[in-house]
Amino acid sequence: MKDHELTMDEWDEVKNPRPETSEFDLVVEEAISRRGFLGGVLAFGSGAAVMSTGTLLSSTSARAQAASRFAFKPIPIATDATIHVPEGYSWSTVVRWGDPLRSGATAFDPANGHDAATAEHVFGENTDGMWLYSIDGREVIAVNSEYANRKTNLPNSEGVPQSADDVLMLQRIQGVTIMEVAPNESGQYEVVVDSPFNRRIDHNTPMTFSGPAAGSDLLKTDADPEGMTPLGTMNNCGSGPTPWGTYLTCEENFNGYFGSTDAEAELPEDYKRYGIGHDGWGYDYHKFDERFDVSKNPAEPRRQGWVTEIDPSDPNSTPIKRTGLGRFKHENAACTLAPDGRVVVYLGDDERGEYLYKFVSNGVYSPGADGGALLDDGTLFVAKFNWDGTGEWLPLTPETTGMEAVEILVFTRMAASAAGGTTMDRPEWVQVNPVAAEGYASLTNNKNRGVKPNAGGDDTSVNGPNPREANKYGQIVRWYPANDDHGTSSFRWDLFVMAGNPVVGEGAYKGSSNVNEGNMFNSPDGMMFDSTGIVWIQTDGDDSNEGDFEGQGNNQMLAGDPVTGEIQRFLTGPNGSEVTGLCWSTDRKTMFVGIQHPGGSFPDGEGLPRSSIVAVWRDDGALVG
Ligand code: FEO
Ligand code: CA
Ligand code: CA
Repeated sequence: MKDHELTMDEWDEVKNPRPETSEFDLVVEEAISRRGFLGGVLAFGSGAAVMSTGTLLSSTSARAQAASRFAFKPIPIATDATIHVPEGYSWSTVVRWGDPLRSGATAFDPANGHDAATAEHVFGENTDGMWLYSIDGREVIAVNSEYANRKTNLPNSEGVPQSADDVLMLQRIQGVTIMEVAPNESGQYEVVVDSPFNRRIDHNTPMTFSGPAAGSDLLKTDADPEGMTPLGTMNNCGSGPTPWGTYLTCEENFNGYFGSTDAEAELPEDYKRYGIGHDGWGYDYHKFDERFDVSKNPAEPRRQGWVTEIDPSDPNSTPIKRTGLGRFKHENAACTLAPDGRVVVYLGDDERGEYLYKFVSNGVYSPGADGGALLDDGTLFVAKFNWDGTGEWLPLTPETTGMEAVEILVFTRMAASAAGGTTMDRPEWVQVNPVAAEGYASLTNNKNRGVKPNAGGDDTSVNGPNPREANKYGQIVRWYPANDDHGTSSFRWDLFVMAGNPVVGEGAYKGSSNVNEGNMFNSPDGMMFDSTGIVWIQTDGDDSNEGDFEGQGNNQMLAGDPVTGEIQRFLTGPNGSEVTGLCWSTDRKTMFVGIQHPGGSFPDGEGLPRSSIVAVWRDDGALVG
C-alpha cells in the first residue's frame, strides 16, 4: 500500500509514531473538538494537532467575533481571458510589456513586439515582484521582469534567437524596471513617461559585489579579474523593500541562461547542484554572447543567484550584489527588524527539496540611516522543522558545514545540506506579518516529495511542514519566533493552509478545512501582507480547471485572515497567466497587481499577449489595504 492510501491517522503513525499524550495535546484536542477548525490538518494526528495549535488558540477571540475582516464579496473562479474583481471594485491596466518609459521609444508592434534598440526604453516582460516607494512626494515602482516568453518576444523565429541582436533584445526586457507612476486626468494610474526616476536594469547593467564573497577567487573572470564588478541581474523573481528605502531583487533560475558551445566541456563540480549544464533553457545566450558560454567563462554563473540591492531614488546608483545573503535560486526577500535592531531577512530557495533561510545581521539598524552595509556582516541560517511543531534556525558556519566561510555563501545549497536543514516543497514567497510576530512561506507544490531526493541527494521524504507525497497543491507554513523576536533561533510552527481539492481530492489532498468548494486554489506563490495584517495570496498553478484541479479555474489572488484562517477569493487572472507581485499606492486606495505570462491577447484583445501591471481600487474610494 502506498503511503497516501493510508488514512491520515494511519499514515501519521507510520511516519511519526505518536508520542505519549501530553497535557499540551489535550489542550489542542479540546480546542479542535470545540471548534472543528482545520479538520484536515487535525487528520495528521499528534504532530498536526500541534502544528495547528497556533491557529486554534489564537482563533478563539476572532471566532467569537465571527465577522469576516474582508471588505469584499468573494468572487467565483473564472476560466476566461480577462480579470475579475469583486462587486464595487474596478481595475485598469497601468503598464504592459513594451510600453514606453521614455518619449521617442518606437511604438509597440502588436504582431512583432519590438527590437533590441527599443527594448532599452520600454517596460520589461513578465512582471513579478514589485514595491512602490514614495520619494519626494512622487510614487516610484521598482518591479522585476523575471524571464522572457521567447515565442512571444521573438514571434518570427518560434522563440529561437537567430542573432546577437535577438539575444540583446531578450537581455534588455528582463531584469528590473524603475518607473514613476501617477494618476492621469481620469484618475487612473499610468507611467510618467520621461520621469527622471525611470530606469531599466537588465542582464548587462554594471554592478558591484559586496559582502564576504566579494573579490573571492570563485567569482573572478577574465573580464573581471578582481571578482568585484559583475554584469546584470537575472531571472528576477520576487523582491522585498528594506527599512532604509532600497529594493532587494532576487535572482532565481539564473542557471537557464548559461550553456556551452563545447558539448564535451567538463563542467565544474558545483554546477550540478545548481542545474547548470551544457544546453541552457533555450535562451541561447552562449551562442552569441561569450560571457554566457561556460566553456570559456566557467565562473560566470557564480556571479548570478544573489540578492541585488537597488536604490530606486537614485537613477545613477550602481546595484549591489549582497553576497552575505547567500547564493541559491532566490525567490524573494522579506526584510524585518529584530527588537534589538538587527536586520533579519527571510529567504526562500525555489526548487523541489531545497531550503528556507534567514540572515541576521551583526550590527543594528539606526532609523534614518542607510542599512545596506548591515547585509554584508551577519549569519545565514537554514530552517529545521520538527514534527512536534517546534523548529530551529541552524547557523551555516565552517563548524556546522565543514566549508569555508566564502564557500558557504557561494555554494549555499551545499552548506544547507551539510547543516541538516529541512527540505521544503519549493519555497516561494516569504513574508512577515506586520501586526504579529509571525513569518509565512508559500510552499508552492512538489511532485518529487516522497518520490526522489533533491539534486544534492538529500532526504525528501515527507516531513512536518511538507506532509504530502507528490504534493500537487502546495501549502503555506507559518512560524512564530520565540519571544516574538525574529532574531532568535527557535520557533513554533503550523500550517496556515494546505491547498487541495475538497471535491475531487482524497484524504489530505482535500486540503485543510479552511479550504472549501468556494475558495479552492492550487500552488500558492506570491504573498504579501497589507498594513492591516491581511495576507494576500497569489497563485501560479495548474489552471486547466480539470482533473485534480477541477473547480479551481484560472490563477488568482485571495485574501487570508491570519487570525481566523478564513480565505476568500478576491481576483481572478486571465487564462494562461500567473498572478504575481503586489504593492499599494501611498494612500492605500489603489493596489497594483502583476499579471505574468497571460495567454490569448491579454490585455489588448488582439496581437501578442502582454504581461501587465493592473491597478485595482474601490469604486467608493475607500482603502484597499
Ligand atoms: Fe519565480 Fe519561484 O517563482
Ligand atoms: Ca514565484
Ligand atoms: Ca511559481
